[in-house]
Amino acid sequence: MKRVHNFCAGPCTLPVSVLEELAEELPDFGNSGMSLIEMSHRAEAYDAVHHETLGLLRELSEVPDDFSIQLIQGGATLQFAMVPMNLLDDGRRAAYVVGGSWGKKALADGGKVGDAYAAWSGADDGFTRMPAEEELTLEPGTRYLHITSNETIGGIRLPEFYRTDVPMVGDMSSDYLSRPIPWDRFDVVYGGVQKNLGPAGMAVVFVRTSLLESIAETVPAYLSYRTHHDQDSLANTPPMFTIWATNKVLHWMKASGGVAAMQKRAEQRSSKVYRTIDEADGFYRSPVDAACRSHTNIVFRLADEGLEATFISEAEANQFENLKGHRSVGGMRASIYNGLPDESVDALVDFMSDFARRHG
Ligand SMILES: Cc1ncc(COP(=O)(O)O)c(C=O)c1O
Repeated sequence: MKRVHNFCAGPCTLPVSVLEELAEELPDFGNSGMSLIEMSHRAEAYDAVHHETLGLLRELSEVPDDFSIQLIQGGATLQFAMVPMNLLDDGRRAAYVVGGSWGKKALADGGKVGDAYAAWSGADDGFTRMPAEEELTLEPGTRYLHITSNETIGGIRLPEFYRTDVPMVGDMSSDYLSRPIPWDRFDVVYGGVQKNLGPAGMAVVFVRTSLLESIAETVPAYLSYRTHHDQDSLANTPPMFTIWATNKVLHWMKASGGVAAMQKRAEQRSSKVYRTIDEADGFYRSPVDAACRSHTNIVFRLADEGLEATFISEAEANQFENLKGHRSVGGMRASIYNGLPDESVDALVDFMSDFARRHG
């Protein structure tokens, strides 16, 4: 079997053991004579996987009982619309921290559904940091403050969650399950699963149950958090393969020490790469404010930007895939999610040091 060092920003590298288990169990699930993805989503065997997945999410993320855990298709992108549809029914306003491309998109959809404004924007300083709490402008009548805890494209992380008077809504697509969540400060947390958790196909959405009652009847059924609250009576056919694979990743995470271990690993592995950037005598540079450097998406440039194409082509010749930065920002980006093996990070820093020696 050939495995490359895959630093894709999403879909992500999954643990090989998870892929192998899936492959082995795929044709005949639990001696049923059919694949899990061929059976009814109302079958007992699938139901057990579904509920175990929800249980593992609750356990690993320490989700309190007054939060509903919902598995919703449409990815994190659909949540950009669902959040304001469900929370802004009473004509109140929504504040957004715009720390990069994803915050910008969330605000744009928020503004289409309701009255949304930027509590802060990093556009003026080229999206290089997240704001301190004192920098946020929260206007009267604000229902929630939307944050993107980690801007996947810019590689910018919110180092500390805010303690604002209004509840927060968090897009945590690229760092949930790799850092603890202070649930008391949130009404909703969501994220697409294809980074730290599994293959693409849905978002996991954590919703404070007390807000379900006030969701307007005019919200279409599939788009209402009230519909997805009861995971015993599924709203429609769920993305069964994604949920099954996510279940296996969650088991793998639990056996590997859970979120605390994932957090420590993310800190250690990202520091290794940042150290390589900082110690290369100006050969590499990180465009992100040091306090806000992402632990999962490491964006870096070469001082000589003309050499970046050579970096990428040499990297590819050495089995490193998906190191090219997002097309909107350029440069390089190494995405280091939970499932990426340590060997890939070690190989990357060796390659970077060697490249700097040869071309510096
Ligand atoms: C922070 C963030 N939010 C939202 C999205 C969009 O997610 P999806 O593709 O699941 O809709 C992404 C995807 O990369 C992301 O990184």
